[in-house]
Amino acid sequence: GGTAIATEKHKEIVNVSHRGASGYAPEHTIASYEMGEKMHGDYIEIDLQMTKDGKLIAMHDERVDRTTNGTGLVKDNTLDQIKQLDAGSWYNEKFPQYANSEYVGLKVPTLEEVFQRFGKNKHYYIETKSPEVYPGMEKELLRLVNEYHINKDTLLVQSFSALSLKTMNNLDPSIKLVQLLSYKTNAVVTDVEIAAIKEYAMGVGPNHTYLNEEYVQKVVNSGLEIHPYTVNDKETMNKLINWGVTGMFTNFPDLLHEVKKGK
Ligand code: G3P
Ligand code: CA
Repeated sequence: GGTAIATEKHKEIVNVSHRGASGYAPEHTIASYEMGEKMHGDYIEIDLQMTKDGKLIAMHDERVDRTTNGTGLVKDNTLDQIKQLDAGSWYNEKFPQYANSEYVGLKVPTLEEVFQRFGKNKHYYIETKSPEVYPGMEKELLRLVNEYHINKDTLLVQSFSALSLKTMNNLDPSIKLVQLLSYKTNAVVTDVEIAAIKEYAMGVGPNHTYLNEEYVQKVVNSGLEIHPYTVNDKETMNKLINWGVTGMFTNFPDLLHEVKKGK
């Protein structure tokens, strides 16, 4: 509410649909990614896990339990087994206000299927999750990026693991990288830390919770992008934009779109 103003800063903010428009649809389904696109998300955010037979799938957790009707670890299941799971019904039960019968029976998408559906020029913001559990996942990601001729100008690869990002950087230095960060208390970053990150990454993605203006300014002035996660209310969106962030992850890309328009 209130009067917000769309400044030049507001207009350029990168709108990342976090797990798709996951506030409104079951995360990491094609339906959720499509909704993110419809709601003016610039990027689709995709978390990667790897199946027993080495296929990259879009899923946040190492276990299938939370977001499907199955149980167990992704790494203990083949893609065929993962494909038998219902990745939509849980959402209808947990969020009845946004429930939709079309979500029943949705499948877990492979990264390959996401590339096939959205094409080479879609903006993808892909996270290597648990890279220590999945040796070779960076190589497989790069293989698919190349096979589907994904435009590297509109691709970002993100990870909490600096090692995983450095592995990507060694495999293909043209891939743009974002170092994820997690603060449990007031966020502080040193010049030494910034310099180390700049060796391989073009940006950082910290949790927004403990950020402050000084932190944001320091990062931006160093030449790094800064995309905090996961920002789900307009007040916080406006605050972060005024501090100088260059984009953010949100489960509600429609809200960020409105904020960018000064609404
Ligand atoms: O990738 C940004 C943000 O999603 C990191 O946290 O746990 O939601 O993947 P998480
Ligand atoms: Ca993520």
